[in-house]
Amino acid sequence: MKDKKVPAAVIQRMPRYYRYLGDLLAKGASRVSSAELSRRMGITASQIRQDLNHFGGFGQQGYGYNVEVLYNEIGKILGQDQDYNVIVIGAGNLGQAVSKYTNFNKRGYKVTALFDSNPALAGTTVAGYPVLDATELGEYLKENPTDIAVLTIPKAGAVETAKVLVEGGVKAIWNFASVDLDLPQDKVVVVNVHLSDSLRVLSYKLRELRGQEDSEEV
Ligand code: NAI
Repeated sequence: MKDKKVPAAVIQRMPRYYRYLGDLLAKGASRVSSAELSRRMGITASQIRQDLNHFGGFGQQGYGYNVEVLYNEIGKILGQDQDYNVIVIGAGNLGQAVSKYTNFNKRGYKVTALFDSNPALAGTTVAGYPVLDATELGEYLKENPTDIAVLTIPKAGAVETAKVLVEGGVKAIWNFASVDLDLPQDKVVVVNVHLSDSLRVLSYKLRELRGQEDSEEV
């Protein structure tokens, strides 16, 4: 890798490159020009070159990009060349939806168990995965090294649970609980997910569109 400090905006675009290249690969494309990739993705060709240069380039003058090579390289950059053990904390609506989404499993995120503080849920299964009592979390982590925890519980218990996760060696938390987790950054990475942020961007754009339509009607 050329540069270790890759800007956050570039990292945010990488999964999109990966998806587009995956689609191209599925359609049997073997190469793509940066102009074509740019047109498909709505990003300038120069931006694409700059983005990929952070990782060593991959393109060839006059040829463009080899789709399979670039797909695999970006996959490696995104850590898609390995599997991850995943646990889900909170077996409610959201925790169940995440656990039931089979594409995560196909992409290497292997759910091993769910945990819930509601004793009525302990002992049940979700999509074939066991739901364990939340009090067993610490012990479970000792026996079952876990890479990623998905936090789908209300904010009240999230900070305390996150501590147990870090103590148990979990290195990554996908945090849906609407609370900031103040954790040692050298020990654990956290990605916060706020679906409502995305929805608010949608309603902002809807408002803009309606504003345009209204001014066209005048
Ligand atoms: P839910 O009420 O269906 O499920 C929550 C589950 O967590 C329940 O089964 C409950 O027993 C369990 N739980 C509560 N405290 C726990 C703890 N300390 N340890 C283990 N289990 C615990 O709620 P839902 O709809 O699944 O949402 C879960 C949380 O995620 C909510 O707090 C909600 O605000 C949040 N949320 C966040 C979104 C986002 O985009 N960030 C989107 C939707 C929900």
